[in-house]
Amino acid sequence: MARIALVTGGIGGIGTSICTRLAKDGCTVVANCHPSEAAAAEEWKQARAAEGFDIATITADVSSFEDSARMVKEITEQFGPIDILVNCAGITRDKTFKKMEQAHWEAVINVNLNSVFNVTRQVWEGMLERGFGRIINISSVNGQRGQFGQANYSAAKAGMHGFTMALAQEGASKGVTVNTISPGYVETAMTLAMDDNVRNSIIGGIPMRRMAQPAEIAAAIAFLASDESAYMTGANLPVNGGLFMH
Ligand code: CAA
Repeated sequence: MARIALVTGGIGGIGTSICTRLAKDGCTVVANCHPSEAAAAEEWKQARAAEGFDIATITADVSSFEDSARMVKEITEQFGPIDILVNCAGITRDKTFKKMEQAHWEAVINVNLNSVFNVTRQVWEGMLERGFGRIINISSVNGQRGQFGQANYSAAKAGMHGFTMALAQEGASKGVTVNTISPGYVETAMTLAMDDNVRNSIIGGIPMRRMAQPAEIAAAIAFLASDESAYMTGANLPVNGGLFMH
């Protein structure tokens, strides 16, 4: 039986690569996106179909517990219980702290961190009962080392790994693994939104002197999603071109 995978933020830059990679690996994949992206999701689905991938899409605001519950219920009814959850939904509201308003803080904490609770909570008990599950949280190098202009984002991303380590202990004896991936800078719309000078100076500081391709992140996720990664839990896997080593 094909494993069923839900990827939040699934039509985004990294999310798209995760979805196609998991589909290639034989999973039944559902890509989540925000309700405001319903039209984009339809185009995305057709573009994936043209590439030979049959990937379902579902809209839900993962910063809402109720909407996350509704989404998981619908997926379970249509496809069956979720085996693999990739928490990939994320936004930036980069500001130096003196310019950061409460709304910038709350938006990033709600979408990047509270969403992880909201969605994982819906699938957790089922995974424990069935004795199999893979939770993969997409954090960031900037959650490991902090980043100028990202007090909100770095806090949320660091929080994700705290969640990973705690939950990993609860799932360990039940066949449910929980891991974090911390990508460095990846070529997506999110990094393109940065000022050119800022971006170029960041690339200059990466030992590999380039950003990652989304597929290079998806490859690591594919391993953590697979049966082969069964003995790995509570880890924080860096995929960052050497930008941060510890
Ligand atoms: N370290 C120390 N000082 C810095 C700095 C840095 N990295 N970057 C800028 N500064 C200094 C500037 O030199 C300037 O100094 P003075 O006031 O003395 O002249 C001061 O800070 C103000 O800087 P800016 O002019 O840049 O301020 P701004 O308000 O115009 O821009 C910002 C602030 C939007 C946060 C901008 O600095 C920025 O975009 N930074 C990059 C943030 C970043 O890395 N975002 C990642 C997005 S991608 C992502 O998040 C994915 C992922 O997981 C990796």
